[in-house]
Amino acid sequence: MYTQALTVTRQQREQLNGHAGKVIWFTGLSGSGKSTLANALEVVLHAQGRRTYLLDGDNIRQGLSKDLDFTDASRVENIRRVAEVARLMVDAGLIVMTAFISPFRAERRMARSLFAQGEFVEVFVDTPLEECARRDVKGLYAKVRRGELKNFTGIDSPYQRPEQPEVHLRAGATSPEQCVALLLQHL
Ligand code: ADX
Repeated sequence: MYTQALTVTRQQREQLNGHAGKVIWFTGLSGSGKSTLANALEVVLHAQGRRTYLLDGDNIRQGLSKDLDFTDASRVENIRRVAEVARLMVDAGLIVMTAFISPFRAERRMARSLFAQGEFVEVFVDTPLEECARRDVKGLYAKVRRGELKNFTGIDSPYQRPEQPEVHLRAGATSPEQCVALLLQHL
């Protein structure tokens, strides 16, 4: 396939931004705290004058991925789209945070493969299922218990834990502030 050469390079964009592009890939169960932590991290980075963007599962599923459900095939496609969008944003020189359950190792590996060494920071938001279900911010675990929601991650749809994430946050036992401080060490 033909690739159109672009005159303005990624390097030039990064120079203008004053930093390199990067993706911080949050993965974890629904209600684990991915969005909260990604959001808190973006607030800090933005205040430091970095060019950022946050791709969040609940929002992306209202637009780019609104045609997708929660079958395995749809989750695979959702992550493919998000990974490609993140790649474009990193090419634009942005620090991109993604907050998606991204339950399958193969798709996280695929996402990682789109980036150079060191550009993809996988963050495992490791909150026990019982704690996610107890918090139940969106009332989804209650729906699952009532039998109103199928293919729910951690219940009747699998979550494959990351084996070697760059950052492993035991979010149940660590405060959001401590988590953000840990994340900042990896940027
Ligand atoms: S992913 O598996 O494709 O990565 P994504 O992060 O986009 O999932 O969306 C997950 C969000 O959708 C959850 O945080 C939750 O609010 C909502 N949701 C609705 N139905 C389900 C379900 N069956 N399993 C998991 N999350 C669901």
